[in-house]
Amino acid sequence: MGSDTLTITDNRTGKSYVIPVLYGTYAAAGAAIWATDLRQIKVSEDDFGLMSYDPGFMNTAAARSRVTFVDGERGILRYRGYPIEQLAEQSTYLETAYLLLYGELPLREQLKEWTEEIIHHTMLHESIKKFLDGFHYDAHPMGMLIGTLGALSTFYPEARHIHDLVVRRKQTIRLIAKMPTLAAFAYRHSRGLPYAYPDNDLSYTGNFLNMLFKTTELRYTPHPVLERALNVLFILHADHEQNCSTSAMRGIGSAHADPYSALAGAAAALYGPLHGGASGEVLRMLGEIGAPNRVPGYVARVKTGEFKLMGFGHRVYKNYDPRARIIKKVAEEVFGVTGISPLLEIALELERLALADDYFTSRQLYPNVDFYSGIIYQAMGFPVEMFPVLFAIPRTAGWLAQWEEMLQDPEQKISRPRQIYDGDDLREYAPLSRRGAQAA
Ligand code: ACO
Repeated sequence: MGSDTLTITDNRTGKSYVIPVLYGTYAAAGAAIWATDLRQIKVSEDDFGLMSYDPGFMNTAAARSRVTFVDGERGILRYRGYPIEQLAEQSTYLETAYLLLYGELPLREQLKEWTEEIIHHTMLHESIKKFLDGFHYDAHPMGMLIGTLGALSTFYPEARHIHDLVVRRKQTIRLIAKMPTLAAFAYRHSRGLPYAYPDNDLSYTGNFLNMLFKTTELRYTPHPVLERALNVLFILHADHEQNCSTSAMRGIGSAHADPYSALAGAAAALYGPLHGGASGEVLRMLGEIGAPNRVPGYVARVKTGEFKLMGFGHRVYKNYDPRARIIKKVAEEVFGVTGISPLLEIALELERLALADDYFTSRQLYPNVDFYSGIIYQAMGFPVEMFPVLFAIPRTAGWLAQWEEMLQDPEQKISRPRQIYDGDDLREYAPLSRRGAQAA
């Protein structure tokens, strides 16, 4: 073998092994060894062979992906090679979703056809409404979204034919089209409002605002600044390579579950406060701080380890999250329409103090995408419970793009990690009558 190899010497046996190294597109895109190549490293014939131990997948590549590139050290995010800054500035969510799924920006005709297909699948089966009506008035909208997403698989049983490209494309369109409707209906249910049906003459985000906020007017007209702001927020949240919920999507999908069930699982992962729930936690935190002059006291408590600064830190970004930079700009535009949020001043002070503090800089903790998104969502009129739902809608494109890639990848198999067994050695079963005596 050439120089693209690694030589490992096992000091337990003195044996050496030469194993190949795999490369990504360029150095920052990663290099790895096949974990199964380690299995030949044994101390004896009955030895299981060496594994890599990696709780939380800190340094394990689970896929070779062509969808999204993140360089956490330099704060870079690209979808299919396009910088997130250019997409946020010039694209729309539906165009970005097409790019993520099919790898190329659509031509004019392709975009028209794609948009029409999505728009014509925004309606929900009327029985879904009955399903939603069964939830308590105070049910969390994310719980309702996860439940109804899973239920959709029973409405489209052909979705289980996951090896059929035409079937897959149909479900992809349905899911991207119906997510805003499911989300909006869950919101209306929690407010006790009648459901507002989709308006196919509006844009994807304009229609979403219509389904959420339409009241008695004959025709809802979304505010163009808010419609565009939501578009940008959706683009920023559309994919983020192998994050927790995407790994759940790939993991469930690897068992060949239908995409509705897999997506419900991915959404459930996103519900967690360490993932999609963080923006709500940021708002709660800013409310608890209450005023800019109370920020230093709060930061001091974070530094003693009492709690974490929500909206700060990221497994991959060890630099300013590029999405947070764009969101800060969107915030200014939204506040121009809605009026400034009193929480913004606290957030800015928190960011200023943290970025000047060695505790945060030495741990490379910077604002992440969720630090400012919650303040914008609140200013736009969304209750905190809707925040993870607002994340799940655009991430649907990313989940599906990654699912599609996983299904077409001949190297992928059912996800099934190994373990290092740390428990008891073989024991003899003791009948109930003998157990007390044994313990004594
Ligand atoms: N506030 C204070 N300290 C922190 C924070 C934080 N937000 N995040 C990490 N740290 C500290 C840890 O305590 C640890 O310190 P130590 O070395 O003294 O023990 C060090 O920084 C490393 O942190 P880890 O927990 O090992 O980092 P990990 O990569 O596992 O966690 C995570 C990443 C979960 C995002 C974490 O930073 C966090 O909990 N942040 C707050 C929640 C949040 O904002 N989540 C949204 C993430 S973005 C998204 O999902 C869309």
